[in-house]
Amino acid sequence: MSPPISSSSDVIDFVVHKGNGVKGLVDTGLETVPEPYIQPLEERLDPTKFQSENSIPIIDVSNWDDPKVVDSICDAASKWGFFQIVNHGVPLEVLENLKNAAHSFFQLPSEERKKYLKENSPSEAVCLCTSFSPQAEKVLEWKDFLRLSWVSEDQASAFWPPVCKEEALEYVKKVELVTKRLLEVLLKRLGVKEIDRTTEYKLMASPILSLNYYPCCPSPELTAGVGRHSDISTITILLQDDTGGLYVRGTSKDSWIHVPTVNGALVINIGDILQIMSNDKYKSIEHRAIANRSKNRVSIPFFVNPGSDATIGPLPEVLASGETPIYKHVVFSDYFKHFFGKGHDGKKTVEFAKI
Ligand code: OGA
Ligand code: NI
Repeated sequence: MSPPISSSSDVIDFVVHKGNGVKGLVDTGLETVPEPYIQPLEERLDPTKFQSENSIPIIDVSNWDDPKVVDSICDAASKWGFFQIVNHGVPLEVLENLKNAAHSFFQLPSEERKKYLKENSPSEAVCLCTSFSPQAEKVLEWKDFLRLSWVSEDQASAFWPPVCKEEALEYVKKVELVTKRLLEVLLKRLGVKEIDRTTEYKLMASPILSLNYYPCCPSPELTAGVGRHSDISTITILLQDDTGGLYVRGTSKDSWIHVPTVNGALVINIGDILQIMSNDKYKSIEHRAIANRSKNRVSIPFFVNPGSDATIGPLPEVLASGETPIYKHVVFSDYFKHFFGKGHDGKKTVEFAKI
């Protein structure tokens, strides 16, 4: 075990600049949370503000064409912006293999993991990161993640780490079918009869699979695994393990709802881009996650993102009835840069696209 790392600048240097991540920090045998991770009081999760767990819908999608299923999905997307789906067609084994593969990646020796740091990575298709945007944020987040960008199958096969490549590829192939189904359902309700090539590019051309790793934390209540934010995706499909720790903004002021872990389920949330395209018919919802005291948690979001040069704005079908657009047109890469140019700050990113 290495000697304790005490000063804030040593911690930042070790975790961020040397690329050891929070995982590396925890492996030094840490007993208390270092200063750079301590959230101000107002950003800590307050257990007196928890709302009942039962409110987030769990939808059985074994029959996508059933009008009741369509209604449940569209209602959940408008009312909650968050729901879970079961019987979605991605086999349990594929889910389990992927979660195990995420653990395997983060259990690699630190020198092996570091091969995928931005400065060492052989390709933009893979990048090991820590926190959210360490250069921009005031307090670091208790999370490392491996970003696997989907450029093409060839790129993925060539550059994704061997320890998780097959599992990630298998999952992406399956989850893309779920993505298409969900977007068809959601867009039909907005008056889009068929998703043509241009719309498909705007909706889902550049997905990112992120293997999120939240190592055990000595005092999770002082930290943020992921701070309050909404995703900038069209939709996000999240696979979480059975640790728990994901919270969604509740309906009463300041409240938070824990998203229960349901074996085999996928958590779906609406992202800012679909909020913009739907001119607020669907809402991206603030959420956050917290590490666990005794378990290393993994969660695996599949961020369904537009092509980076796609121009995003309210869909013509949505505005057809004469409704006033709330958003202007923005290029997705600009929106993306804006998101990562600041720390997590709730739902503020979407202001960037407001008229
Ligand atoms: C995210 C996110 C939640 C979780 O990565 O955007 O919200 O449960 N993750 O890890
Ligand atoms: Ni998120």
